Amino acid sequence: MSIKIEPSANSGTGVCSNGQPLSLADLVETLNAQTDAPSLKQLYNWLENARISEDELEPYLGFKDRTYWRHLVCRNKAVEMLVLCWKPGQRTVIHDHNGSCGAVLVQQGVVWETTFHFDEQHGLRYNSVSEYQPGAVTGADVPDIHQLGNPDVSEQNLVTIHIYSPPLGVLHTYKPGSAQIEMYTPEEPDAVTGV
Ligand SMILES: [Fe+2]
Repeated sequence: MSIKIEPSANSGTGVCSNGQPLSLADLVETLNAQTDAPSLKQLYNWLENARISEDELEPYLGFKDRTYWRHLVCRNKAVEMLVLCWKPGQRTVIHDHNGSCGAVLVQQGVVWETTFHFDEQHGLRYNSVSEYQPGAVTGADVPDIHQLGNPDVSEQNLVTIHIYSPPLGVLHTYKPGSAQIEMYTPEEPDAVTGV
């Protein structure tokens, strides 16, 4: 069946013209058509309307013992999409996206997200923690500081879908109680070829 995507400009509705939710292939087609970095609101819209099947996701699944695993789905100058796979207890460093915004869809498992305040006088301070279940979408605007992870008590793996606009470059990392900001370049995600 041929599915026509709504115009891929940033004002797109996030659903196919036939009213169906967006598959992973629909998302890739839409993201590949972007020439300007989409807004955070647009990223939310796409992910809130996404329904990704287990078959579509399967090539991007894989877990490591040492840390969570990042798999690249697609990337151009405007935007990128990744699938992240997390075992219980695995989490990011505390970071911001250094000018990119990002949205996250929980595909399976549970996400804990901690957010922080920062100023040079007080350094990094805890702000809040939230839990997200499958189907939920959360996001980080510029200059939000956060930490994502699979709770060590979850007893299940976590799979999340991430869209960053523009693609992530060098990130800033932080430590609680410290005003020191460090630069961090994430490892290049593993690309899945032939998909
Ligand atoms: Fe992040």
